[in-house]
Amino acid sequence: MLDALQMIRYQKGIMADLPASAIYLFFQLEDKTHLKESLQVLQKLIDGESAVLGLGEQIMQKSSQKMPYHPYMPKGNQKKLAPAWRCDLVLWLRNSDQGTLMHQARQIIKALKDAFSCIDITRACTYEASYKEDLMVSHDLSGFEDGTENPKQDDRYNVAIIDDKKKYLHGGSCWAVQKWVHDFDWLDKASLQAKEAAIGRSLSDNRELENAPDSAHVKRTEQESFDPEAFMWRRSMPWIDDKLQGGLMFSCFARSFYPFEVQFNRMTGEDDGVVDGVFKFSKIKHTTFLWCPPFFKGKLDLSFLSL
Ligand code: HEM
Repeated sequence: MLDALQMIRYQKGIMADLPASAIYLFFQLEDKTHLKESLQVLQKLIDGESAVLGLGEQIMQKSSQKMPYHPYMPKGNQKKLAPAWRCDLVLWLRNSDQGTLMHQARQIIKALKDAFSCIDITRACTYEASYKEDLMVSHDLSGFEDGTENPKQDDRYNVAIIDDKKKYLHGGSCWAVQKWVHDFDWLDKASLQAKEAAIGRSLSDNRELENAPDSAHVKRTEQESFDPEAFMWRRSMPWIDDKLQGGLMFSCFARSFYPFEVQFNRMTGEDDGVVDGVFKFSKIKHTTFLWCPPFFKGKLDLSFLSL
């Protein structure tokens, strides 16, 4: 159970229902001499709820404390399937009103322009979202329900949010965000059986298939099957661009990057050579590891940085 302090310290957007629409902004740090003032601007603009903030590699290098952070480091097969790219800041802007999102995105990009260049802007939405027993459920654009095996009730906080005596860690979270592009022509042509075998669940009623192959996504990622167990809080959203390309902005939060790393190793066949079925219809554009700082006295706590 979380104490009252922690309840208000994490970035609330991490634990909230998915918004109907969102914009993800990805930035690279270009000019370190303007970093300090840009972070001060972000402390004024980011409330953690309508906008979730994650700090990446070049900013985290300025840490004067031991943090549960390291950048994404591909190994083996991952060097081809999900190569490293440099991204130093990600903002997940969340709002059902797309005009508001657009203005918020413009304001932030402008405010950061002396220090950061924006390297990707991705618009996201929900798909076939509905409520099941008070829980909001959305779907991936392949049609499968996404988020079914997310931890429930208090377990969500225990999985996603750090509980620590140190003020700059308490309420923080490790965020892995990975942009996948779907092959909708494959999905159009593939048989129901081929699609269900890729995921390991039924498209019509989401039940787990009994005879799913070893490559089935839910077999590769089964959280209890790792030692130690690898639970994560997934908040992925479908994304769509103006050419009607799209896919999944896979997004997960945890107390470390361990759950993502061990699951992703299995997905890319690092241990047994079996590659996850999702690669049949989707490929990875980019992958970023981020630190989501907690709030302290109403402001993002950046006291771990020495600037
Ligand atoms: C195109 C990319 C992906 C798609 C379309 C996708 C879709 C799905 C679907 C449909 C499910 C079954 C329902 C559910 O429990 O949510 C699922 C489960 C899951 N996925 Fe993914 N996923 C993708 C990438 C990833 C990645 C990169 C990871 C982690 C590295 C991951 C981790 C998980 C986990 C932990 C589960 C629950 C497994 C369990 O314990 O049963 N997924 N995903």
